[in-house]
Amino acid sequence: MKEHMFDEIIEKKLTGSVKWDGLKQLYGSDTLIPMWVADMDVRPPDSITEALTKRVASGHFGYSLFEERAKKSIQSWFLKRYNQQIEQTSLLYSSGVVSALAHTLLALTDEGDEVIIQTPVYPPFHQIIHANRRQLIENPLRLIGERYEIDFLALESQMKTAKMLILCSPHNPTGRVFNQDELQTIVDLAKKYDVYLLSDEIHADLVFSGHTHHPILEFPYEKSILVSAPSKTFNIPGLYASYLIVPNEEIRTKIEQVQQAHFVHPNAIASTAIIAAYEDPMSERWLKDLLVYLEQNRDHAIKRIQSEMPLLTVVKPDATFLLWVDFEQLGLTDEERASWLVEQASLALTHGKPFGENGVTFERLNFGCPRRQLDEALDRLHSAYLALPLD
Ligand SMILES: Cc1ncc(COP(=O)(O)O)c(C=O)c1O
Repeated sequence: MKEHMFDEIIEKKLTGSVKWDGLKQLYGSDTLIPMWVADMDVRPPDSITEALTKRVASGHFGYSLFEERAKKSIQSWFLKRYNQQIEQTSLLYSSGVVSALAHTLLALTDEGDEVIIQTPVYPPFHQIIHANRRQLIENPLRLIGERYEIDFLALESQMKTAKMLILCSPHNPTGRVFNQDELQTIVDLAKKYDVYLLSDEIHADLVFSGHTHHPILEFPYEKSILVSAPSKTFNIPGLYASYLIVPNEEIRTKIEQVQQAHFVHPNAIASTAIIAAYEDPMSERWLKDLLVYLEQNRDHAIKRIQSEMPLLTVVKPDATFLLWVDFEQLGLTDEERASWLVEQASLALTHGKPFGENGVTFERLNFGCPRRQLDEALDRLHSAYLALPLD
């Protein structure tokens, strides 16, 4: 049978990859299968690689603009995929989504201000709040059955004194895609209590069948800021080609001032990458195929875990290539589980604790890889599971 293009095993060792070459330093062994950081083991679309190759061959590595054409390609992507009209003037470049979040936090809040996040959530959300001495307010998502739901009652009472809510939409690690009603309610509450809404939508394009992503800007509110990038979508996170969409001029000026103070500038290939990702029809075709492959990986992994390892509980993601798995019923402490995964299963997963206290019994498994690699990882997990002294 002809191999699917995403079945290709790509050798990433000794390429300076954090995911592969960082194993020894982070997990103490370089023989693990890395299923941790949110970086896929698939080749990006040729359309992007070829555009970058051409750019590199040109030898132009001088200081570079956030090119008009890159901005136009972002506009057309939002119009085409989300029916959202973006003003070109509202776009700001950022070298990374997390730095865009941190700079916005610095621009719009003061030390000691309350900032809400919906835990369990991507650890840098916690880190930027702590590191910049804001007060972290957890609005834990509630796991009802196998689905995470927003606790709106708690959120409303927290909004009364908070300055900002950082949304992760779609949500990492739970894979939740928030629906229109949920987002409208969030925006209504933010308006009522005058809270900034900072929405990280880096996973927006990786949504599976039956779900629709709604950008925060679909719900008119002057204090909303959207941050995104083609990085997760096309597996180019190391290029640090990201952007903010800030429709309100006053807010945008404040963020620009912080960016200027931190000397944020596009690298020489950022615009090329954004243009190739969003403008070249081959990239979109690649994405369509990728989504089919990822959805099959998701369903395959869930089926195997549920049938072979019934004491593990899986949360089925609506989006992303991340699987959030609860190991609580194994009866291990979180330290025991971490060493069991490395020593017995030879796997590098992302430990749930840094996502928030309600993530302590969980691990995050990245299924953005060839099916063979996913199966090898699940085989290892299954063997270690069978060797546990379970009743
Ligand atoms: C929700 C979310 N935001 C941001 C990032 C990272 O963005 P960047 O590397 O551009 O800072 C990730 C990566 O996993 C993510 O999941």
